Amino acid sequence: MIIAGVDGSVASRAAVEWAAADAARRDLPLRIVHVVDTSWYLVGKRPDAPLPDTLLRGGRQVLQEAETLARERQPAVEVATELVTGRPADVLRERAVDAEELVAGSRGLGGFAGALVGSVSMHLAGHVHCPVVVVHAAHLPAQGEVVVGVDDSPECEPALAYAYEQAELRGATLRAVHAWQLPVHAYAPDIVYDMDEVRAARLQVVRDRLKTLGRDHPKVNVIEDVQSAHPVDALTAAAERADLLVVGSHGRGALGSALLGSVSRNVVQHARCPVAVVRA
Ligand SMILES: Nc1ncnc2c1ncn2[C@@H]1O[C@H](COP(=O)(O)OP(=O)(O)OP(=O)(O)O)[C@@H](O)[C@H]1O
Ligand SMILES: [Mg+2]
Repeated sequence: MIIAGVDGSVASRAAVEWAAADAARRDLPLRIVHVVDTSWYLVGKRPDAPLPDTLLRGGRQVLQEAETLARERQPAVEVATELVTGRPADVLRERAVDAEELVAGSRGLGGFAGALVGSVSMHLAGHVHCPVVVVHAAHLPAQGEVVVGVDDSPECEPALAYAYEQAELRGATLRAVHAWQLPVHAYAPDIVYDMDEVRAARLQVVRDRLKTLGRDHPKVNVIEDVQSAHPVDALTAAAERADLLVVGSHGRGALGSALLGSVSRNVVQHARCPVAVVRA
């Protein structure tokens, strides 16, 4: 099952369209969930106080519109809707426990004007165990390419597997981007590197990671894209020409306490195409 969270915003409509298309590609049912945040209504009341119907009516309409949109775009997909009360991020996270994938818009109805990604979708990208896809409102033409970020940590393997599957289902090219930068040795400026050797070693990192999956998906055309750049710059630039950008939730540099590595967090915010965050 694929879950799409909707709040009636433009980006959440884009999320429903993306989720319905993916459900069609993967032959999975789609469940559209709207969470009515009752926390304000319940201030000063008992937690089990009865909720007035007016509080739920708007939510039902949001679901109705989303369901119509999904059915219109993908008539073959089995669509269900669910209206739940609670805190949106908590409820969606809990619903995602037995889902294949969770899809959310990059923004919702709240937030401040300059926010790139809302707190609900950021929370989901950092906590949910199944792949989380964050969809921006802009509608971009199909490009026939899926981009995946590769680093030298085993944490990126599930992201790679997801990216191969998406590329295969779409008949798209898979661009495996590995960006590297030489460390700045402030106290040893005279250390010299053989750049050809460094480049060859970096390319080998990508080849090693792709070896097994490449064998399992012989039909997928892969571009090995090794760049000397910051990974956020390399990935957001590649995303300009992609239908989907796939990253792991963590890389080698992750602090134990961070829920989302800095590269993943930044590409979720800055890439224009949909971004899938895949947890190891
Ligand atoms: N109440 C909700 N029920 C279901 N999905 C939701 C709900 N609120 C948000 N979402 C999902 O999360 C996406 C992002 O919305 P989010 O709430 O994170 O951003 P925002 O409203 O712009 O900012 P914030 O709420 O942090 O002030 C939405 O497009 C939607 O997919
Ligand atoms: Mg919101």
